[in-house]
Amino acid sequence: MLYIGLDLGTSAVKLLLVDENGGIHNSATREYPIAFPKPGWSQQNPQDWLDAVVDGIGALLQGYDASQVAGIGIGGQMHGLVVLDENDQVIRPAILWNDGRTDKEVQYLNQVVGQYKLSEYTANIAFAGFTAPKLLWMRKHEPELFARIDKIMLPKDYINYKLSGVHCTDVSDASGTLLFDVKNKRWSPEMLDLCGVQQRQLPHIYESYQKVGTLLPHMAQTLGLPESVVIAAGAGDNAAAAVGTGTVGDGACNISLGTSGTVFIASREFGVDENNALHSFAHADGTYHLMGCMLSAASCNKWLMEEIFHTKDFAAEQAPITRDKLGRNHVYFLPYLMGERSPINDTHARGAFIGMTMDNSRADLTQAMLEGVAFGIRDSLEVAKKLGISVKRSKICGGGAKSPLWRIIMANVLHMKLDIIASEEGPSMGGAMLAMVACGAYGSVEEVCHKLVQVVDTIEPEEELAARYEERYRQFQKIYPAVKPLFPELL
Ligand code: XUL
Repeated sequence: MLYIGLDLGTSAVKLLLVDENGGIHNSATREYPIAFPKPGWSQQNPQDWLDAVVDGIGALLQGYDASQVAGIGIGGQMHGLVVLDENDQVIRPAILWNDGRTDKEVQYLNQVVGQYKLSEYTANIAFAGFTAPKLLWMRKHEPELFARIDKIMLPKDYINYKLSGVHCTDVSDASGTLLFDVKNKRWSPEMLDLCGVQQRQLPHIYESYQKVGTLLPHMAQTLGLPESVVIAAGAGDNAAAAVGTGTVGDGACNISLGTSGTVFIASREFGVDENNALHSFAHADGTYHLMGCMLSAASCNKWLMEEIFHTKDFAAEQAPITRDKLGRNHVYFLPYLMGERSPINDTHARGAFIGMTMDNSRADLTQAMLEGVAFGIRDSLEVAKKLGISVKRSKICGGGAKSPLWRIIMANVLHMKLDIIASEEGPSMGGAMLAMVACGAYGSVEEVCHKLVQVVDTIEPEEELAARYEERYRQFQKIYPAVKPLFPELL
């Protein structure tokens, strides 16, 4: 049988057609626009996601026997607020995970309600991108629209709702709403109260690998698929990527260099970082994980290449950065182009190049940008280290991980082995694997991971280079605290 895995990302939906042995038969990508209506705001139109999914599935199935498709599973961008009225019409554009407008709501939640209580109710504290602060923002700034809300959902759940008619979510994505009691896997009555929402407005909760329903007849017709196609609950994109890279079992780690940059550490037991600098979320395999998320990772590269250097040839820009230059650049880059989440939780933080001299070239800026993102990832791993979690090796996935140079920089800045997977399509492969479990092709997520995921290469750190980067990282660590007080004044 065949399975469709979707990665409903921030810039595009990526689709895979996979068989139960993990063989990739076809792939497709459909882009959609993102709007930044004010500095730090970030929105998308859910209808654009749906159009892209429908069009992408059409392209994916060209030349294949659609009657062989058994299931669909989605890994989706997390935290986005999607609201529908009683006629199932989208009330306003979705407010995305990297939107920083909720500064005041985050302050209210963390300081007035208090981090201690939030952590007790949800295992997490408030970050601007999380869903609950966005509901508070809507209640204050768009009261008429807020009053019309009939259904609240996350981005991938909008697609699942359109496909199956079931108002559902999964535990991993629900974890990022700050409305969810992660430990007990249920909506938090206290948080619902605080945000003025009712349980009936929220989706039904499933484990990520459970079946939520089958295709609605009119959707089956539109897509040319059988009505029997199973819709899996799916997962937040990071949990789905972790499944796609086989990141299951205590201490297993995955690093994703996508639009965001994340460090995902799987854990069999529920646990909370006492400072809540790392998120404590449910995993897609039925267990838990800790996660650090930087808001701009591969997007820093895209921004520098496309917006500033006006090129699409990323490899050509990296070509002059030869091995001998690594760890020797005196230019530094703060990757906070959308503010930052983990671990500094600062919506006012901004991007910056610092340390330039007249002899610096565009290659030096490119190198500083690649290194700055690696240092940002390291910041989250340092928090994990303080919690006694020492990560010695990790999988790596996402668009940024396709760059051989960036992989080497990452392995040496993080001073760890990085495993490369045969299929680097993290969330879409993970989505397909969740669909396989939902259809009964495998008994568990762990089983499908062991059967399908294959490490094909490992990037080893080199002691001398890692030592040079250690020194650079110490310098990098001093920059943000020094300029932090300036950022709010630059708004
Ligand atoms: C995770 C997060 C991002 C988005 C990106 O907390 O906000 O990784 O899921 O799609």
